[in-house]
Amino acid sequence: MAKSSRPIDETRFGRACLPVGRVRGDLKGIPMKIAVTGKGGVGKTTVSALLSHIYAKEGKQVIAVDADPDANLAAALGISRQDIQHVKPIAELTELIEERTGAKPGTTGGIFKINPRVDDIPEGFGFRIENITLLIMGKSRSAASGCYCPEHALLRRLLKHLIVERDEIVIVDMEAGIEHLTRGTAEGVDAFIVVVEPGQRSIQTALAVKDLARGLGVKRVFVISNKVRKEEDITFLKDELIDLEFLGAISFNDSIMESDIQGRPPWQASDQTLNEALRIKSTLESLL
Ligand SMILES: Nc1ncnc2c1ncn2[C@@H]1O[C@H](COP(=O)(O)OP(=O)(O)O)[C@@H](O)[C@H]1O
Ligand SMILES: [Mg+2]
Repeated sequence: MAKSSRPIDETRFGRACLPVGRVRGDLKGIPMKIAVTGKGGVGKTTVSALLSHIYAKEGKQVIAVDADPDANLAAALGISRQDIQHVKPIAELTELIEERTGAKPGTTGGIFKINPRVDDIPEGFGFRIENITLLIMGKSRSAASGCYCPEHALLRRLLKHLIVERDEIVIVDMEAGIEHLTRGTAEGVDAFIVVVEPGQRSIQTALAVKDLARGLGVKRVFVISNKVRKEEDITFLKDELIDLEFLGAISFNDSIMESDIQGRPPWQASDQTLNEALRIKSTLESLL
């Protein structure tokens, strides 16, 4: 696979790691790198799975990244529990982490490489389903302890590689904490999407995420309203999040909930939901 054809700002990354660049004009309108975030339960995983499916169906190569420690993107992509049970999250690949960083996972205060090799990880450790490669990041212990450990270095480096150095569409299903995102990575995200549902709690999270994202250099933060039941729900969310750009809404749909119970992907459950997601994708492309 070609290393990269993404535009790289050499002032940010230095000459040594400059891949052969394509000009931004070629990519205009295609959100190559999408981060999906929001409060737990709002529908981040559902949205990530829908967008991954839509791009994969168009024939694009997609890397779907499950960066939420509460990982469940595999199920939303329709991957069975049996198929996924042997796929270890990257943060648990002890030998790989030690080989790449030069230090055992969980060690702190020692010396380890902060720029480990990661470019072979999607092919080597991803789970492939049609045009989608699923990568499960897993929990890094550093998140809990606040330290900076080898596995954290590897995950951060991997995310940066996926976002700023790869050709594929990358869709990252993230927790609201956006813990693995560094400034250099955040600046490479084309569409930073916060999913909200009607209610104060998801709005509070959206506002906090917006501040975190802007602090990291994200220029545009988009919103998807999910689980809406009536027009007023959309109006309410727009009024509360007045300075954010809305991409559209996904209706509350019992079939989506039902498909989660049955372990089926959301696009199989409801044409309405799939069509709403398709409209959101078109709106996003028209705004970029
Ligand atoms: N539009 C919707 N209508 C009905 N249920 C939904 C909708 N979107 C998501 N859900 C359900 O809500 C629950 C949480 O969704 P999920 O995508 O896992 O959220 P998150 O990843 O943000 O925690 C799941 O059971 C999912 O099926
Ligand atoms: Mg989720």
